[in-house]
Amino acid sequence: MTTRPWSSTTASVEPGTLDQVTKARLYSGMQPSADSLQVGNYIGALMQWRDLQDSYDAFFSVVDLHALTQPNDPAELREKTRRTAAQYIAAGIEPSRSTLYVQSHVAAHPELAWILSTITGFGEAGRMTQFKDKSQRYGADVTSVGLFTYPILMAADILLYQTNIVPVGDDQKQHIELTRDLAERFNARYGETFTVPMPVIQQDTARIYDLQNPTAKMSKSAESDAGTLWLLDDPSVSAKKVMRAVTDSEGSVRYDRENKPGVSNLLVIYAALTGRQIPAIEDEYAGRGYGDFKKGLAEAVVNEFGPVRARALELLDDPAELDRVLAKNADRAAEVANATLNTVYDRIGLLRRR
Ligand code: TYM
Repeated sequence: MTTRPWSSTTASVEPGTLDQVTKARLYSGMQPSADSLQVGNYIGALMQWRDLQDSYDAFFSVVDLHALTQPNDPAELREKTRRTAAQYIAAGIEPSRSTLYVQSHVAAHPELAWILSTITGFGEAGRMTQFKDKSQRYGADVTSVGLFTYPILMAADILLYQTNIVPVGDDQKQHIELTRDLAERFNARYGETFTVPMPVIQQDTARIYDLQNPTAKMSKSAESDAGTLWLLDDPSVSAKKVMRAVTDSEGSVRYDRENKPGVSNLLVIYAALTGRQIPAIEDEYAGRGYGDFKKGLAEAVVNEFGPVRARALELLDDPAELDRVLAKNADRAAEVANATLNTVYDRIGLLRRR
């Protein structure tokens, strides 16, 4: 194991192997807000998770309580939650080595969120850009208090596990800054209680853009489906989307984020999925048209997502087994989370039930 400067200082890691006790903590999660994850989730987060899971004591949650901030059909939400967990596993998150669980299975999350909400300023929460964007888009009547307090629940997710690092895409950076502020504030008021987490954002892939609108982030809730590559789409559908991706009229495959956002985005996706460097891909396609380049990328997309999709669908064929794995992992998560919550309740002076 590599030594990390921020190695864990808490002693609440049990039960677990010696390895888990000495490893620093990693925490991250995704919302089950669509039937499938999109390629931005995969490249911006999931690939990092997979690479880091063995060097850290890693916790990965499916944040179903966060997903309630959007309208949901109950049966569909249950299904999306399973589908998200299945995609984590299919993409290489090992539930026997990492703790992969569903957020609502651990009651400590909303409990700590309440406590943290009492030390969060109204103005501070109102400055979160994701809240501002969404509330402007949907209007005050549709915007719920849950959407406003969303980042506080996210802070609770992270702080319950005495997390050292949080690997995410760059749209989550501000939420992690709030989490750090809340941890420091609580520690200053009540004594050292929380580890102050660090965001880990892979600069090159921190933001994957929409294939049809390459200046907008690829997202599960994009207006047009043609710009989003879904992990669980039939590979032939994804290949077609790549072939139809917006480029420019210059005709040369080169990275220039400002003037060639479409081609640059495709180059980033290509490099991430094949583990190659962008200049090597530019060289390969020098003097060849976008058609060839897109064909190469479509092939890389099919090669990467074909097996992930097949494995996810196989796992979804046995929902009882998937539920069993999630329950077992939730037990381990709850042990760690409850230890932190107990300390918090003691520190702030709640009379404990004997
Ligand atoms: P969510 O579900 O929107 O996204 C999950 C992860 O995918 C990253 N991501 C992207 N990265 C690059 N390019 C894109 N186009 C792109 N789209 C999404 C996100 O940055 C994120 O890492 N609030 C979180 C979920 C959450 C969480 C947490 C994360 C709840 N609690 C605790 C970390 C720790 C969210 O909505 O992610």
